[in-house]
Amino acid sequence: MAEDLAPLADVLLVHREPAHIAMAAVRAGVRDIISADAEPQELRAALDRAADRVFAARAGAGLVPPPAPHEPAAVGRVVTVTSPKGGVGKTTIATNVAVGLAQRFPQRVVLIDADVHFGDVASALNLEAKHSLPDIARGPAARDSIAVKSYFTQHVSGLFVVPGSDSPADADAVTPDDLAQLIAMLREQFAFVIVDTAPGLTEHTLASLDNTDHLVLVTSLDVPGVRGLRKEIDPLDNLSMVVGRRTIVVNFNERSRGMTVADVEATIRAGVDFVLPQSNAVPLSTNQGIPLLQGARRDPVSRELRVLVDAVAPSASEPVTGRLSRRKR
Ligand SMILES: Nc1ncnc2c1ncn2[C@@H]1O[C@H](COP(=O)(O)OP(=O)(O)OP(=O)(O)O)[C@@H](O)[C@H]1O
Ligand SMILES: [Mg+2]
Repeated sequence: MAEDLAPLADVLLVHREPAHIAMAAVRAGVRDIISADAEPQELRAALDRAADRVFAARAGAGLVPPPAPHEPAAVGRVVTVTSPKGGVGKTTIATNVAVGLAQRFPQRVVLIDADVHFGDVASALNLEAKHSLPDIARGPAARDSIAVKSYFTQHVSGLFVVPGSDSPADADAVTPDDLAQLIAMLREQFAFVIVDTAPGLTEHTLASLDNTDHLVLVTSLDVPGVRGLRKEIDPLDNLSMVVGRRTIVVNFNERSRGMTVADVEATIRAGVDFVLPQSNAVPLSTNQGIPLLQGARRDPVSRELRVLVDAVAPSASEPVTGRLSRRKR
């Protein structure tokens, strides 16, 4: 039925239990499903998407002029957070940046936990997930760009989340290719796809980097970690893997560490863009499952994280290439 109406109409279903009816609805020609309990901004976003689809269909049928050929396709930006060493703050940064972006772009941000075996994004956001990465990247959802959203878990900020697996055996089934395809599919639907990763350049991280527009590299102030960062930057530069923007973050900054940000810059032969101080507020927020940016906190880490969100979400007029630095040198 919906096909007969195209390109003049689009079918959006509002239902009390969207997850239960998703597959049947999609087969019947429904293009998008939202919950009857959805917030007004979610309904608004769904209507905007429906309008975009009608516009695209009409353009395809020659009813409106197609976009000028030089205009880039409207795909979302993929931001991957990585580090050579574990425990340096990747998940803290990925979850806070994702929540900060979701507050600015309601319903248009998705966070993927690509630390396939030991991901703790759900815990950092205090989420009880029905579905996790293996169901989403390998099940029927992986082949259905419309129904996939009904498998996500939503955070109170409006952020959509693809949580990591609870079971290492299930996680083993997710191949780097599955992850790459999921990212490619989601960037067509969301303004931002944030990817949290396991430490080091794992196969899954490399698969994510293949699709990345903005790489956020994190280190703490310790010699092995910083040397590791240098070793991670070199192959990425040589392989030209990330063509967009690169941001380097030093976390756990504290005087007594016996190492300064200048030492880091000398070792990695590159500038540091953001410095997050060590603060007890961070483990407290991790343990409570409430990201710092969920509230209106004004502590130094929250302030710096908000500027990092600005860096990830530049204004539309700004080019998406080159390094972006907040620090004055
Ligand atoms: N600036 C900071 N000050 C104090 N504690 C911090 C800071 N940043 C992160 N932490 C704490 O350090 C711990 C590790 O942080 P997080 O889980 O974000 O690191 P990670 O790089 O994702 O670790 P993994 O490699 O294991 O995934 C958490 O308990 C977190 O609260
Ligand atoms: Mg982590």
